[in-house]
Amino acid sequence: MAETTITVDGKVLSRVYAGASVKDAAQYLLPYPEVFIVCDRHVVSYAKIVEDGLAHAGNFKGTLVIEATEEKKTMDTVLKICAFLLSRGASRKAMVFAIGGGITTDMAGFAASIYKRGCRFAYLPTTLLSQVDAAIGGKTGVNYESLKNMLGVIRQPDFTFECPEVLETLPYRDFVSGTAELLKTFIIDDSANLYGKTVNVLSQINNASDKAAAIKENRDALVQMIEAAAAVKAGVVSRDQFECGERRKLNLGHTFAHAIEHEARVKNVDIAHGEAVAMGMVLAARLSEKAGMAELGLESLIKENLKVCGLPVESPFPVETLAAAMKLDKKAETGGRIHFVLIAKIGDVEMKDMTVEEAEALLK
Ligand code: GLY
Repeated sequence: MAETTITVDGKVLSRVYAGASVKDAAQYLLPYPEVFIVCDRHVVSYAKIVEDGLAHAGNFKGTLVIEATEEKKTMDTVLKICAFLLSRGASRKAMVFAIGGGITTDMAGFAASIYKRGCRFAYLPTTLLSQVDAAIGGKTGVNYESLKNMLGVIRQPDFTFECPEVLETLPYRDFVSGTAELLKTFIIDDSANLYGKTVNVLSQINNASDKAAAIKENRDALVQMIEAAAAVKAGVVSRDQFECGERRKLNLGHTFAHAIEHEARVKNVDIAHGEAVAMGMVLAARLSEKAGMAELGLESLIKENLKVCGLPVESPFPVETLAAAMKLDKKAETGGRIHFVLIAKIGDVEMKDMTVEEAEALLK
């Protein structure tokens, strides 16, 4: 099992364990005097394994099962988590252990961050997307007034426990959606030289008739990629925890993705976050070419790579529609300029501030 840390000013704020097994999570919870589990209702079997592991420790205080959907990613659910902690007598020494995807970890982390002005928390992410992105780096929060992740704080979990076995039972569409964040990470930083291998392994899985079996067969390769992606993200967050500069690079494709997701909600179209990120990265690649940042051919290369991995690559909404939605993005700075992440080449991205109008004109 590999360990990566988020270290700021020489202090380890958070640890990421990759290649772990669910049954070993309990031993990492033994040092905490009060352990509370918050679990997505789809993965209660993992909570049961952790509960059993704590059976003789005497520190397990209860499990709250939540509905982890975008609609329920609200202050109401966060307050329910706080009410659960309060009703079970949780003190400031409490450890909230969240088991689920990014929605669960975002909400449980937020609740733990505000409960009695902050108690401990840690994660066992159960989706690929949360293993490589959401559960690392300390972004917590909820949606508000139809705006995604509008309320929240950045506060680091004590640890993130990444178990490859959970990917083998994930609905395949969720697995593929998570691969967009994995590929995104290596497009930003491919110092591990894994982008090409990742595309190969994922396309092999996508071509297999039994996808779950193919994911299992490729467990070691996936662990290597997840570990490397976690290391890239942990490094970026260690250098820029509060997203004042470099961390913005992790938003590659996300300005477009958030606009696509906004339109999808309005028009009732079913698009998963990673799918929107894949479409967003293709638009970011197009913008990079049009802005003279990347050589011609980058867009078609990225499009082809994402497609063979099973990801959708064409936004169903036109650029003009996305431009209107982009103006609502919370990352819009004063003066209407947005920090776009442009791709020079695989493994090398740069920030460029542009107005929505400038980006729209280049993309049309
Ligand atoms: N999801 C991007 C970040 O954590 O900064």
